[in-house]
Amino acid sequence: MRKPIIAGNWKMNKTVAEALTLVVNLRSALDAIPAVTSVVCPPFTALAPVKQALNGSHVGLGAQNLFWEEKGAFTGEVAPNMVAELCQYVILGHSERRQYFGETDASVNRKVKAALAHGLIPIICVGENLEQYEAGATDSVVRQQVNGALVGLTAEQVAGLVIAYEPIWAIGTGKAATGAAANQIISLSVRGPVADLYGEAVAQAVRVQYGGSTNAKNMAEYMQQPDIDGALVGGASLKAEDFIEMVRITANVRG
Ligand code: PGA
Repeated sequence: MRKPIIAGNWKMNKTVAEALTLVVNLRSALDAIPAVTSVVCPPFTALAPVKQALNGSHVGLGAQNLFWEEKGAFTGEVAPNMVAELCQYVILGHSERRQYFGETDASVNRKVKAALAHGLIPIICVGENLEQYEAGATDSVVRQQVNGALVGLTAEQVAGLVIAYEPIWAIGTGKAATGAAANQIISLSVRGPVADLYGEAVAQAVRVQYGGSTNAKNMAEYMQQPDIDGALVGGASLKAEDFIEMVRITANVRG
């Protein structure tokens, strides 16, 4: 039985004061829904104050990136132990990082290994762009990203991962994939290569989220799918009522 996990990717939004307001509004409602793992991923600047605000709460904390080196002359980067000091989770390989900051399957793989070495749970993002989708290349693109992210990992490490399937054409566009389509890609192109590399038990253990224009209206559709274990939520995670409602719906559908 995989426990559902809903993570809010706040992206480059929320000052410290705004982040604290949001987390204060989320905390008790999310704590009242223990059947779902809920995670918030604020920008780096808000991680330490949000961690304090979550003291004693079961809401998880995640960063949106890290660098793989341990320390040193890497201006502007954040080391894995610095993230692990504050967080339990880290989003890696988000399509915006691949698109605007040159991340590749190889760099994502290095980050995944660094995160795991520091006890963090990576949320690894994969997904095809519109051109690839229209060319019918979704399966091969997603498969390659999954294989690339997992190079050199043990079965035990892979079983503990979270993978987020996020079709790029669905991110922030209001054009979400249907539940059935997302489920099919997750089963075929995410769990498929995991099964090929590590066996069926590991493929069934890894938690896989859908992401891309999820909201309180379409959440039930995703959670009714057997291979979807939650969501990586962008825009809708910035409003407390919306995010709480999505976690509530997940608990109702899966409960
Ligand atoms: P969205 O973003 O929910 O705003 O589409 C999802 C994501 O990029 O993780």
